Amino acid sequence: MDLSAVNPLIAAGALAVPIGAYALVQLARLAVPGPHRQARFNFKDKTVLITGASTGLGAALARELYTRGARLILVARSIDKLKALCESIKESGPGHEPVYAYLDLAEPEKVDELVKLSHNGKIDCLVNNAGISMRGSVIDTDMAVQRKVMETNYFGQVAVTRALLPFIPSDGAIVVTSSMQGKMALPYRSAYGASKHAVQAFFDSLRAEERFGLHILVVSAGYIATELGNNALDASGRPTGVTDGNVGNGLKPEEAARQIANATERRKPELLMAPLLHRFTVFLRYWWPSLYFYSVWKRHIMQEAKEKKKE
Ligand SMILES: NC(=O)c1ccc[n+]([C@@H]2O[C@H](COP(=O)([O-])OP(=O)(O)OC[C@H]3O[C@@H](n4cnc5c(N)ncnc54)[C@H](OP(=O)(O)O)[C@@H]3O)[C@@H](O)[C@H]2O)c1
Repeated sequence: MDLSAVNPLIAAGALAVPIGAYALVQLARLAVPGPHRQARFNFKDKTVLITGASTGLGAALARELYTRGARLILVARSIDKLKALCESIKESGPGHEPVYAYLDLAEPEKVDELVKLSHNGKIDCLVNNAGISMRGSVIDTDMAVQRKVMETNYFGQVAVTRALLPFIPSDGAIVVTSSMQGKMALPYRSAYGASKHAVQAFFDSLRAEERFGLHILVVSAGYIATELGNNALDASGRPTGVTDGNVGNGLKPEEAARQIANATERRKPELLMAPLLHRFTVFLRYWWPSLYFYSVWKRHIMQEAKEKKKE
């Protein structure tokens, strides 16, 4: 193509439209009061407590925030993994010594005592990250699985947040690892989607009740290449032991952690961390529900047929 044939005025106009639209969105964002108008959240020397820090996204967040100067308190059930993570983090360079503790979100006890691990009795940033998933149809999935997922992903986060809220300063932050499935639901993931919808509603409610400056970031994450699928419970409550293609081909946890850290620093209220098509699907879910439900049903029927053919 001969570029000299492009009228410079048309080219300038074509550039001005997206730049103008971007500037307008930024101006509109600043026009509304909220935590995003405060100074950026700086992780340096801040106490950050991360749940589900033993593997996957939680471990990647721990590494990312350590390099940004945070004082880490890492919690999960796998104490051996937390210990190994702390050792390897320390080897990555100078920083505050990370500490770790046991916490089972399905049976959270004495959560407020975690604050004793903070050097000054404050938790500047709470990262509610731990979670489990499930695979199974509504009809086949045991009630025990439905309850376990809600206990971990929803009631666990509620318990930790309620217990630690008094220790989070007004210019502090709460980061919540939700999912795109907190905005739209998928087949065979009923309890998982329900728990993430519940988490979204809980933190939206908390925003309206809490101190105005307190920053709450809900991350609606798309697929991330972690052990989530492998650890997901099947219909009878056993780990599937299988990482499905979507999760396996997802975003690298290190990249996801970097995006979450940046969004926290900028005090964004929401982060949709997914490809454009998945974000568009959320839009479709609310603006053209019948088309969305038909597409999801059709996709699921086609997938089932494909799997039957393989057998
Ligand atoms: N991977 C994805 O595609 C994806 C997409 C959207 C959202 N997310 C969300 O991202 C978060 C992190 O998951 P991940 O992808 O990093 O999966 P992961 O590798 O399986 O990590 C899950 C973490 O949660 C902890 N955990 C699980 N059950 C727990 C319990 N009862 N009590 C305390 N900790 C518990 C695990 O530690 P222990 O086993 O040591 O306790 C582990 O550290 C989850 O909330 C998940 O829903 C993931």
